[in-house]
Amino acid sequence: MPPTTELTEEKVLETLRTVKFPGLSRDIVSFGFVKDLAVGGGNVSFRLEITTESPRAAEEIERDAKEKLRSLPGVNAVTVRMSVQPPSMAAPRGAAGVAPADPALLRDVRFKVAVASGKGGVGKSTVAANLALALAKLGLRVGLMDSDIYGPSQQMMMGIDEKPFINPENQIVPIERYGVKVMSLGFLMDVDQPVIWRGPMVMKAVEQFLQDVAWGHLDFLLIDLPPGTGDAQLTLTQKIHLSGAVIVTTPQDVSLIDARKGLAMFQKVNVPVLGIIENMSYFICPKCGHREEIFKHGGGEKTAKQLRVPFLGEIPLDPKVAIGGDSGRPIVAGEPSSPVTASYLGIAEAIQRTLETTSP
Ligand SMILES: Nc1ncnc2c1ncn2[C@@H]1O[C@H](COP(=O)(O)OP(=O)(O)OP(=O)(O)O)[C@@H](O)[C@H]1O
Ligand SMILES: [Mg+2]
Repeated sequence: MPPTTELTEEKVLETLRTVKFPGLSRDIVSFGFVKDLAVGGGNVSFRLEITTESPRAAEEIERDAKEKLRSLPGVNAVTVRMSVQPPSMAAPRGAAGVAPADPALLRDVRFKVAVASGKGGVGKSTVAANLALALAKLGLRVGLMDSDIYGPSQQMMMGIDEKPFINPENQIVPIERYGVKVMSLGFLMDVDQPVIWRGPMVMKAVEQFLQDVAWGHLDFLLIDLPPGTGDAQLTLTQKIHLSGAVIVTTPQDVSLIDARKGLAMFQKVNVPVLGIIENMSYFICPKCGHREEIFKHGGGEKTAKQLRVPFLGEIPLDPKVAIGGDSGRPIVAGEPSSPVTASYLGIAEAIQRTLETTSP
């Protein structure tokens, strides 16, 4: 018997990350296909849960994964349980009494991406606004929709104080700021009148909102979701055929636990999670430029690894971000050459690249 090299789960995952979906540049680990991985005594076993219309692609993935793992030092046996399902059967879309995804809805929008978090206050709306601006800077046509009924904030963040008008087709025309078309449920609400929304009303409002806005042709529609996993999120993920979701977290442990919940929700409804963004990651002293790790740094990246989704990048805690948000001029517009803007541009490029390579 040859001496066994220590075989770890990490080494197995590293190998599986070299197995790509046939014809795509994305790997099977980042797609979330690898489930129940167990490594011990030279044996590797896992389940491959693949959503595809092509059984041949699934066979190719299985063969490639087995071949690569068998040539890994220390591996004696590889057991793969396959579970392949076509996209239409794969998701419990239509659960919770909501109609399944409507293909006609937002037909002229190429990529629909939700910006989500399990927990409130992690900077989701700030990230959505700045990411929208960053995507627009890449030359893309971008829309930003604030679907947070309970606390819409894009009006303030994008500096909008007028109300949108209705076109002759009876559609609401989004308001354009910094090259981004913005629509918020807040436009339709009276600021001084707190509205008590109940579940069915939330769903109706969101649904109507999706149908009656004149977005025109867009490359990206970013959807700023309310925190948590309630009715609005479910309606959205079920009604729109979301291209993917981005999860925002902060480095604290509690927030990472919440990020996991957010991820689980999207996986349940079969929406690909494009990755995790760690916001308020570290602090750069505005006076001396010193980088200060306020929280245990790198938690977002670690969680992304554990959850097997890409880590999209980190955004520092910078008072200018908050000032930009409060004054209606997001930092990507206000401070175009700041490190924060550079982070956003990098994340925007990563998201665009992922979607371009994985979408038909
Ligand atoms: N990187 C950052 N540096 C400094 N302040 C930030 C940063 N990101 C967000 N903030 C500030 O943190 C606060 C919360 O951000 P934001 O409203 O975007 O969070 P949220 O997750 O959308 O909250 P909610 O769950 O209430 O919708 C805001 O005051 C915002 O300006
Ligand atoms: Mg918000």
